[in-house]
Amino acid sequence: MEVTRSRDYFIAGNWKMHKTRAEAAALAKALVKALKPGKHKYLVAPTFTALETVGAIVKGTNILLGAQNCAPEEQGAHTGEVSVLQLKDLGVDAIILGHSERRHIYKEDDTLINKKVKLALKHGFEVILCVGELLEEREKGKAEAVCKRQTEKGLAGVTPEELSKITIAYEPVWAIGTGKTATPDDAEAIHAYIRSVIAKLYGAQAAKQIVIQYGGSVKAENAAQLMAKEDIDGALVGGAALKEETFAPIAKFS
Ligand code: 13P
Repeated sequence: MEVTRSRDYFIAGNWKMHKTRAEAAALAKALVKALKPGKHKYLVAPTFTALETVGAIVKGTNILLGAQNCAPEEQGAHTGEVSVLQLKDLGVDAIILGHSERRHIYKEDDTLINKKVKLALKHGFEVILCVGELLEEREKGKAEAVCKRQTEKGLAGVTPEELSKITIAYEPVWAIGTGKTATPDDAEAIHAYIRSVIAKLYGAQAAKQIVIQYGGSVKAENAAQLMAKEDIDGALVGGAALKEETFAPIAKFS
């Protein structure tokens, strides 16, 4: 049965800590060509050092420019950090926050992530807020509880108006870069659950409108099956986002 969708699909590529400026420029140029005209909403998130280069290439196209992180403060003595003011200066449209690699490798907690979310919203950015459980949390039956906590705490203090700038990305940590994708049914169960969490926080209409992406070993072979699920509204793609040949088929899935 054809599902009538009230939300547009949003497909984003997270390039993580890959690519020099020249490599990033080549990929961005190939994607601009491949995704025009595209059916969905698109974003690429290069590493900080390639933002300006890629920004110049995607400017005025149907591909948004994303950053992979930002500092929790606007400016000051924060060696090694990049601020929202600097990202604004580069023409960044959206910021990925709470990625599992930030949470688990760099020990970012919900309080810090929430501070970044609020600061990014204050400066008019769209935010992709990542949530997702570890394998041991899933095995202990805690997947929903972890996603609920990360969603609630990540969005603490975010107003109903600001929520329209938020996309949630459900990325089960055990599926990231491992080749193990959550089955469409398992992913759908958590997506529907996260939507119910949003409904409790912001009401049924807001829950109906919020876009929830899936991330974790998304490839051309599994994208359409995942996207066919009622509550899966797009993808946050890592490894397969690094080449036009592997990202474009996901971005153009039908
Ligand atoms: P992979 O697609 O490589 O599993 O990475 C997913 C991810 O972390 C995107 O943010």
